[in-house]
Amino acid sequence: MRKLLGLQCVILTFVLCILSTLCDRVTYTFDDSVGIGRQFDGIGAISGGGATSKLLVNYPQELRSQILDYLFKPKFGASLQILKVEIGGDAQSTDGTEASHMHNSWDENYGRGYEWWLMVEAKKRNPDIKLYGLPWGFPDWVGDGTRSPYSNPTMTSTYIIKWIKGAKQYYNLTIDYIGIWNEKPYDITYIITLRQMLNTSGLSNVQIVVADDAVWNPVSEDILNNPSLSNAVGYIGCHYPNTHSTDIALETRKQLWASEDSVEGACLAKTLNQNYLNGFITSTIFWNLITSYYNYLPFYGAGLMRASEPWSGNYVVESTIWATAHTTQFTSVGWKYLRHGAGVGKLNGGGSHVALISPDRKNITIIIETMSCGGSLQANRFSSNNTVIPQQILIDLKGSFAGITHLNAWYSRPRASDDALFLKKAPIILTKGQGQLDIGVDEVWTLTTINTGVKGSFPPPPASAEFPLPYSDDFESYKPGVEPYNLVPQAGSFETFKSTDANHSIVIRQTVLEDPLHWCPFTTDFPVAVIGNHSWADLYIECDVRIGNVNNTDGAFIAARVTQGGCQTFETEGVYFFIFPSTNTIKLSNDLAQTQVVFKGSFTGFKEWNKLSLAVYGQEATAMINGQTVIKQNITGTAKGGFAGLGTSSFGLADFDNLKIMNIDRGLKRMKQIKILKDTKLFFIADNL
Ligand SMILES: *[C@@H]1O[C@H](CO)[C@@H](O)[C@H](O)[C@H]1NC(C)=O
Ligand SMILES: *[C@@H]1O[C@H](CO)[C@@H](O)[C@H](O)[C@H]1NC(C)=O
Ligand SMILES: *[C@@H]1O[C@H](CO)[C@@H](O)[C@H](O)[C@H]1NC(C)=O
Ligand SMILES: *[C@@H]1O[C@H](CO)[C@@H](O)[C@H](O)[C@H]1NC(C)=O
Ligand SMILES: *[C@@H]1O[C@H](CO)[C@@H](O)[C@H](O)[C@H]1NC(C)=O
Ligand SMILES: *[C@@H]1O[C@H](CO)[C@@H](O)[C@H](O)[C@H]1NC(C)=O
Ligand SMILES: *[C@@H]1O[C@H](CO)[C@@H](O)[C@H](O)[C@H]1NC(C)=O
Ligand SMILES: *[C@@H]1O[C@H](CO)[C@@H](O)[C@H](O)[C@H]1NC(C)=O
Repeated sequence: MRKLLGLQCVILTFVLCILSTLCDRVTYTFDDSVGIGRQFDGIGAISGGGATSKLLVNYPQELRSQILDYLFKPKFGASLQILKVEIGGDAQSTDGTEASHMHNSWDENYGRGYEWWLMVEAKKRNPDIKLYGLPWGFPDWVGDGTRSPYSNPTMTSTYIIKWIKGAKQYYNLTIDYIGIWNEKPYDITYIITLRQMLNTSGLSNVQIVVADDAVWNPVSEDILNNPSLSNAVGYIGCHYPNTHSTDIALETRKQLWASEDSVEGACLAKTLNQNYLNGFITSTIFWNLITSYYNYLPFYGAGLMRASEPWSGNYVVESTIWATAHTTQFTSVGWKYLRHGAGVGKLNGGGSHVALISPDRKNITIIIETMSCGGSLQANRFSSNNTVIPQQILIDLKGSFAGITHLNAWYSRPRASDDALFLKKAPIILTKGQGQLDIGVDEVWTLTTINTGVKGSFPPPPASAEFPLPYSDDFESYKPGVEPYNLVPQAGSFETFKSTDANHSIVIRQTVLEDPLHWCPFTTDFPVAVIGNHSWADLYIECDVRIGNVNNTDGAFIAARVTQGGCQTFETEGVYFFIFPSTNTIKLSNDLAQTQVVFKGSFTGFKEWNKLSLAVYGQEATAMINGQTVIKQNITGTAKGGFAGLGTSSFGLADFDNLKIMNIDRGLKRMKQIKILKDTKLFFIADNL
C-alpha cells in the first residue's frame, strides 16, 4: 500500500511538473571565452563492408538520383560529410564480396564494382565530402605467398596507392583518408611504410586512420611509444566504441573517431551527441550507408535508409536520415566543439547537449537530444540511467555569441510518425543572450544561427513489389568488366567478359583464381553468386556454362534454395547441380561445400558450352544438360527455400551466360520444350549413391 501511494505520488509530481513550471529550470551556458574543445571532423557512412550498395546502382536513374540526394546533397537530407568505402578485395565482407582493382598481380582495372560510381555521385552533390578507403580483404597475391598482407609492406602499399591514384586518374577523386585492414590486426612496419610511400607518391595529403578495430588500444599505446608510428598516423578510428574512448587514446592527442558505428534507428541522435560528450570522439561513421542488399543477407535494415528493390524502384527514407540532418545540415568539417561544461554536457533531466562553432566564431549550432532509447539493445551504452523526463532549459549564450538575438529551431521526435521529423519551429528569442526551451522525451532539437536547413523531399517512390519472375539476362547490355545487376557474389567475383564466341558475346566470368586473404573468420572455397528472393521454394533455373582450360575451375553449378550468404556462405545449404566436365562427373548436393551429395553420376556429353537446367519442386529435383535429363532425384536436404545461385566448385575461371529463372510451372514446361530440341547423340549413365 505504501509502495502504491509512493508510486502515485511520483506520478502526480511528474504530471504537475509537466503542467506547471514546478520543475527546476536549469541554465546551460554556451561560452567560447573559456577555451574551446576539439575540432569536428564530420559525420559519415560506410558503403561496403561489404556489398551493401550492390542493389542501389541498378535503380532507375531518376529514383537513384533522389536516393543519392537524400544521402549526400548538402542542406537536403542526411547531407553526409564523409563517405567511407570498401577497397574491394574479392573476399566476403558481410553481405557479399566486392571486386578488387587487381584480381591478380598482372591485372589492373578501375571500372569494377560500384564504389567508384558512388564516390563520383557523392562528390557531384557535395564537392567538400571527405573520402575514406579501407580494405576488408585482399587478393591472395598481395600476401606474397604468406597469406598476410603485411609480409611485403611495399607490395601492399603499392596495391593501396594504385587504388588511390586510380581514383584520381579515372574519376578525378581525391582520397582524404586511408585505413589499414578492417577489424584485423595492424602492423607497425606496414603503417610506416605506407606513410612513406604515400609521401613519395605525391600523396602526403592522404591521412592514415588506424586501426579500424573494436578497441582503442593497443594501437594508442603503440602510438604513444613509437614516434615514427605517431608521425605516420593521422587519426585513431575505433569501431562501435559505445560513446567512450580511453585515457591512453586521449593521451595520444590524435583526433579520435568512431570510424564504424551502428545506426540503431532513433538512438542515432544520442550516439552523435554522446560520442563527443563521453568520448571526445570527433567523427562518427555509420555502418552502413544504405540497405541495398537482399533481405536475409546479414544485418538487413542496418543502413541509414533502404533501397533494396531496384526492380520496383521502391525506397524508404528512414528517420535516421533526419536525425543525422540535425547535425550535418548545420555544421561543417573544421568547426569546433565548445568545451565540456561550456556548451557540451548532460541535461539534468536526462539527455545531452553539444555545441559546435564555425572557425570565425560567427555561427553556433547547438544539438540537444532527449532520446530514451528504451527497449534498445544498446540502451545502457550511454549511461546506467537512461531515464529522461520533460524539462525546461535556459540557454545562456556568452563570449562571441552573447549578442545573438535569436536561434533557428529544428525539431524531431523520431519515435512518432513521419510528421515529427526535422520540422522547422519558431526561432528561440534571446534576451541578453538568454532564451528558454521546453523539451519533451525522445526529442532532438537543433538551435542554430545557420538559416539554410531544408527537409528535402520528392514525390513518394513507386510501391514495393516482389522480385519479378520470369527473370532472364543475356548480359549483352553490359560493357565488359562490370558486375551484372542483381547477381550478388558471396564468394569469388563475377563480372562481364567479352567472349570471342559469336553466340555468347558478353558473358559473366568468375575471375578469382586463389582464395583471397579473407575478412570473415571462415573461408568459402566455392565462388557463388545469389539472386532473387530468399523465400523461393519451388523454382526453375537455367544457365549456359563453360569451363575453359586456362586457369580454370574444375566444376561449376547452378542452384536453388540457397539458404545463406555473408560470412556463413561456406555452410550454405540448398539444391546444387554441379558439373565437372574434365572428369565427366555430375552431382546433386544439399550444400555448397558438397558434404551432402545426394547423387553422383557420370556424363560424357559435355560440349564447350553446356545449358544447365534445374527444377526444384517439393522434395524432388530434376536436372538437365543440353536438354538431356540427367538427374531426377528426391532431395534430402532441410533447405525449404532460398535464393537462386550459380558458381564454381573451386577458385578458377568459368563462364556463365543466358541466365533464366522462372516459377516452377513455367520451368517444367520449358524443360519439356528443351527436351524436344535436345541433341539425341548425348549419352548419359547415372549411378545413384
Ligand atoms: C577535378 O576536381 C577538381 C576539384 O577537386 C576540380 O577543380 C577540377 O576541375 C576537376 N578536373 C576535371 C578534369 O574535372
Ligand atoms: C609525410 O608528409 C607529411 C606532410 O608533408 C609530413 O608531415 C610527414 O612527416 C611525412 N611523413 C614521412 C614518413 O615522411
Ligand atoms: C535517472 O535520471 C532521471 C532523469 O535525469 C532522474 O530524475 C532520476 O533521479 C535518475 N535516477 C537515478 C536512480 O539516478
Ligand atoms: C554563418 O551563417 C550565415 C547564415 O547562415 C552564413 O551566411 C555564413 O556563411 C556562415 N558562416 C560560416 C563560417 O559558416
Ligand atoms: C519474396 O517472396 C515473399 C513471399 O512471396 C514475399 O512476401 C516477399 O515480398 C518477396 N520479397 C522480394 C524481395 O521479392
Ligand atoms: C550459334 O547458334 C546458331 C543458332 O543457334 C548455331 O547454328 C551455331 O552452330 C552456333 N555457333 C556456335 C559457334 O556455337
Ligand atoms: C592464367 O594465369 C597466368 C599466371 O599463372 C597468367 O599469366 C595468365 O594471364 C592467366 N590467364 C588468364 C586468362 O587468366
Ligand atoms: C521421391 O519420393 C517419393 C515418396 O517417397 C516417391 O514416390 C517418388 O517416386 C520419389 N521420386 C524419385 C524421383 O525418386
